[in-house]
Amino acid sequence: MKSLLDDQVRKSRVPARLDWWQSATGLLLGLFMWTHLLLVSSILISKDAMLYVTRLLEGSTNPSEEGGHPILVSGAAIAIFVLFVVHAGLAMRKFPANWKQWRTMRSHMKMMKHGETSQWWVQAVTGFIMFFLGSAHLIIIASNADKIGPGLSSDRFWSWGLWPLYLILLLAVEVHGAIGLYRLVIKWGIFDGKDPRATRRRLKKIKTGLTIFFITLGLLSFAAYVKIGMERAENGQVGQRYGSEGGEDH
Ligand code: HEM
Repeated sequence: MKSLLDDQVRKSRVPARLDWWQSATGLLLGLFMWTHLLLVSSILISKDAMLYVTRLLEGSTNPSEEGGHPILVSGAAIAIFVLFVVHAGLAMRKFPANWKQWRTMRSHMKMMKHGETSQWWVQAVTGFIMFFLGSAHLIIIASNADKIGPGLSSDRFWSWGLWPLYLILLLAVEVHGAIGLYRLVIKWGIFDGKDPRATRRRLKKIKTGLTIFFITLGLLSFAAYVKIGMERAENGQVGQRYGSEGGEDH
């Protein structure tokens, strides 16, 4: 009798544990995405700054010179991919599995506040987009880790024709990440304080501010990579490492 009860208690803890893992993987991915964009945006300082950041992340002891271990970047991309798949898999549990569940969910949603409903939708749609485009990006990065830098990355944006992928991915990631982190803070009551309603309003403003900040930063970086990519294509420098370009006008 006791063991049956124990078994039921253990089973009833499973959804809470899975929820915890969904939050934990989401938190890691959200923080990673903001850090990632700050690093990618080093191109806005200069090509040399982006090269320095690239070498630093390759574990180079002297990032001002050639050297480093791109395999570290491949490893990081694979680790992020694993987190990504776990997070997406856990989120899929909450999707309606059939038409009947779908109708029940819709009627529940109608009773919920509009804001919550649309947030759920935005997360589902952006999550779906990210799963495909993010996976493609991670596979490309993991298998081309030795070809990252101000020149070769810009070639990927323009000459490889990947700019639409980056543009859609940027918007999906920043919207999804900010809503996700906002909901996480609300769910676990992290900054509830004395007046949770006022806190929620403040958090909403912070969420909107961060989304605008990161999308703007992303779009500016996007424009910089596309511009460099176009110039390199015009000068016949595609595929050449930054600093070693020959090209037609050299
Ligand atoms: C360890 C994992 C990752 C690494 C090393 C990495 C690296 C890079 C690099 C080097 C670029 C510049 C373009 C290029 O070289 O192709 C870039 C751009 C970008 N990455 Fe990642 N990435 C990682 C994970 C992700 C993930 C998981 C996402 C989203 C799901 C993502 C979204 C983006 C976006 C949207 C851009 C374009 C940014 C812009 O236009 O301003 N990355 N990434």
